[in-house]
Amino acid sequence: MANEIKTEVRDHIGIVRLNRPDKLNALNYVLMTQVIEALEQFDADSDIRCMLLTGDERAFAAGADINEMADASMIEMHHRNMFGRWVRIKNLHKPIVAAVSGYALGGGCELMMCCDIIIAAETARFGQPEINLGIIPGAGGTQRLTRAVGKAQAMDLILTGRMITAAEALAMGLISRVVPAEQWFDEALKVCRELCQKAPVALQLGKETVAKAFETTLTEGIEFEKKLFYMLFATDDQKEGMRAFQEKRQAIFAGR
Ligand code: HXC
Repeated sequence: MANEIKTEVRDHIGIVRLNRPDKLNALNYVLMTQVIEALEQFDADSDIRCMLLTGDERAFAAGADINEMADASMIEMHHRNMFGRWVRIKNLHKPIVAAVSGYALGGGCELMMCCDIIIAAETARFGQPEINLGIIPGAGGTQRLTRAVGKAQAMDLILTGRMITAAEALAMGLISRVVPAEQWFDEALKVCRELCQKAPVALQLGKETVAKAFETTLTEGIEFEKKLFYMLFATDDQKEGMRAFQEKRQAIFAGR
């Protein structure tokens, strides 16, 4: 099987790099299998505290691989269920930071939206151009984009297929931070290093609770938050964090 990604561990960060540079990291079946499996392995590794998902300078990913889908019939697409597997990314516990440079289009934008914190180069470009291919987003784009930016902007992007700049994406709430072009990877790594200093269980429950906001009513979400908040008082890290505050020192979190 071709190696369509590169993985690396730096300190406690599991890095997954899409690696089809000559195809702008277009997401083919093998690449997505490898991405999902690598993220799951990092998620299960007790030495890893967060993941960093990235592409290269020219593209995070320019979408699903059009050549893989072009001649498929409806029945084939249904049986392949290529995008059904993406729910496994949503089910990961540890935070995922996306480092984006260049294009994040179609499935690339959808993959980016599966991440928790999105750091983008000021030169990055975003969009859901599927309409120009006679299709619509198929890996959560219509749902995640609408939740991220609201109906008016999501309709505009999905129905016109236009590309937007990083500044526009930031203003809409699609991404977390915009950084100078040459710093996109280092800044994302810096965010990961900061996450590595936090209490791991609190990080995971924080992620789970924010994600819950998209799945539930306000009352149920607040109830869920309260239970997870109380749960954290069973961790050593809560005791360490509060004791460190009282003793005016830096907390050292062990992940227990
Ligand atoms: C397959 C792709 C690709 C894609 C780029 N390439 N995007 N191959 N699938 N999505 C390939 C090109 O064919 C080309 O290969 C090489 O990458 C470089 O791309 P160019 O087009 O030559 O580069 P450029 O002129 O700079 O244009 C960049 C671009 C354009 C504007 C991003 O490549 C483009 O419009 N790409 C398609 C974007 C798109 O429609 N994405 C949505 C896909 S559908 P060769 O071999 O010719 O050098 C989708 C559905 C989601 O994502 C469903 C759920 C996942």
